[in-house]
Amino acid sequence: MDRYCVFGNPIGHSKSPLIHRLFAAQTGEQLSYDAVLAPLDDFAGCARGFFASGLGGNVTVPFKEQAFRLADQLSERAQRAGAVNTLKKLADGRLLGDNTDGAGLVRDLTVNAGFPLAGRRILLLGAGGAVRGVLEPLLAERPAALLIANRTVAKAEELARLFADCGPVSASAFDGLHEPVDLIVNGTSASLAGELPPLTPSLIVPGHTLCYDMMYGKQPTAFNRWAAAHGAARTLDGLGMLVEQAAEAFYLWRGVRPDSAPVLAELRRQLAAG
Ligand SMILES: NC(=O)c1ccc[n+]([C@@H]2O[C@H](COP(=O)([O-])OP(=O)(O)OC[C@H]3O[C@@H](n4cnc5c(N)ncnc54)[C@H](OP(=O)(O)O)[C@@H]3O)[C@@H](O)[C@H]2O)c1
Repeated sequence: MDRYCVFGNPIGHSKSPLIHRLFAAQTGEQLSYDAVLAPLDDFAGCARGFFASGLGGNVTVPFKEQAFRLADQLSERAQRAGAVNTLKKLADGRLLGDNTDGAGLVRDLTVNAGFPLAGRRILLLGAGGAVRGVLEPLLAERPAALLIANRTVAKAEELARLFADCGPVSASAFDGLHEPVDLIVNGTSASLAGELPPLTPSLIVPGHTLCYDMMYGKQPTAFNRWAAAHGAARTLDGLGMLVEQAAEAFYLWRGVRPDSAPVLAELRRQLAAG
């Protein structure tokens, strides 16, 4: 059986085994996919041990930067992201590092939500690993403008500098945000604590602006509740991004693109019931 896994610490909460087993069942691909609790002080040793026989692995918190350093070869988007969420063993045994998070977000927005990004004014909240990972794929869709806002504004400015050659990207502090936008993506971890970045409602055009929180949960996040209360046309959470980044990894490994819709529906059902 071809072996795949997800490395993380902690890892018990990961939905990746369920997602990839559903993809495998749907496509008829013969593979196993397990959660691997990698030791905090030896991710590289754990990964090398797995890849003695394993073919591919996803990488989650806190190992994405270590996976970036472990990979023998990097995709362009992983290079840009400075982080790897997908490893693939090549025919010669070397490890290819890729980052499918940004492609997952773009696909969830453009295909699942039917929201083309070309010509849009986009506001991206946060400047951590998740935001860095989605910048290049978002800019590749040719938005009119992409503004990064972060609590620590120097981190937003650094990202804007790093990605300036990819498109019209700029940085701001939260208190400098006033102009309405077409899309707000919350890539901060504020929602994890039930918190909300300090945002003015003037950013939302009632009935028009789409709001997307990369986090997801059984209940709407604090950000999505704020967005709905101020008239956002739609609010979406990050469950679709999670399933789509997995579909992209599955495609990289197996050369088969699974149908994500029924898998997303099953995850949504389980989240609501759990
Ligand atoms: N759906 C998916 O597939 C997916 C994939 C990846 C990540 N995510 C989600 O994306 C989020 C960010 O992850 P990450 O890896 O980028 O985290 P990270 O690297 O730790 O970055 C956290 C970011 O959130 C900001 N922040 C934290 N608390 C805040 C608050 N109370 N108010 C305003 N800003 C705050 C930080 O600002 P400072 O720089 O000022 O500290 C920083 O920009 C998490 O919720 C994660 O679950 C989802």
